[in-house]
Amino acid sequence: MPPEPAAEVIRLGRSQQGWVYVTFAVLAMTGLAWLLLHHFISVPGEFGVARHPVEIWSLRLHGAAAIVFLVVIGTLLPLHVRRAWRMRRNLATGIAMLAANATLVATGYALYYAGSESLRSWSSVIHWGVGLGAVALMTTHIVVGRARRSGAGEAAKPDRRSFAARESLPVRQAK
Ligand code: HEM
Ligand code: HEM
Repeated sequence: MPPEPAAEVIRLGRSQQGWVYVTFAVLAMTGLAWLLLHHFISVPGEFGVARHPVEIWSLRLHGAAAIVFLVVIGTLLPLHVRRAWRMRRNLATGIAMLAANATLVATGYALYYAGSESLRSWSSVIHWGVGLGAVALMTTHIVVGRARRSGAGEAAKPDRRSFAARESLPVRQAK
């Protein structure tokens, strides 16, 4: 089998793409659901108003999806991010993606473990603010990345540091 061109390695496989989209969509939808339920909806309870029962479940699902999403990001680092970084492709939105996700992970951690109430409430606002922004960012990242691939010249850019690409040697294929 001929070696895959360096630019092709950046593209995600079908199932990997599915994992990215599904886990990210679950995170965004459960985060949004929590926000709406927490701030705008309450139900009558035994001792006055109470939280809607779906609120806690949206956060439970969100936390579970966050764990899966960390694994998904881990699968992107060795090929997608590394290769695109070296080829300077989609770098601006790519760096923004890394920064946004690092902020989400750090503030998500703080939401679990922050001792002080003020740190927790700051983490919450930063977390959902960046989270909602990340939906638009993810869309931009994908649209810009794909448009540049089909645009003239981008796909032809060589991997600047890969020895195999520089010397036109076959890139070892995963079995
Ligand atoms: C958390 C980090 C990231 C996530 C979740 C992510 C996710 C994605 C997704 C879902 C696509 C569309 C799938 C596809 O076209 O195959 C994509 C495309 C792309 N991304 Fe990323 N990405 C991340 C970081 C980066 C970084 C840091 C760079 C660059 C240094 C980058 C460069 C690209 C490029 C060049 C494309 C277009 C690929 C092509 O169609 O040829 N990405 N990314
Ligand atoms: C996709 C966009 C996202 C949105 C809109 C979002 C939104 C939210 C919201 C509204 C909360 C509840 C805040 C609070 O309790 O005060 C939350 C909690 C949390 N988020 Fe996100 N989030 C997003 C992405 C992420 C990501 C990428 C991660 C980590 C990989 C993450 C990890 C967490 C964690 C660990 C919590 C705490 C869960 C708990 O208290 O049980 N989130 N998120």
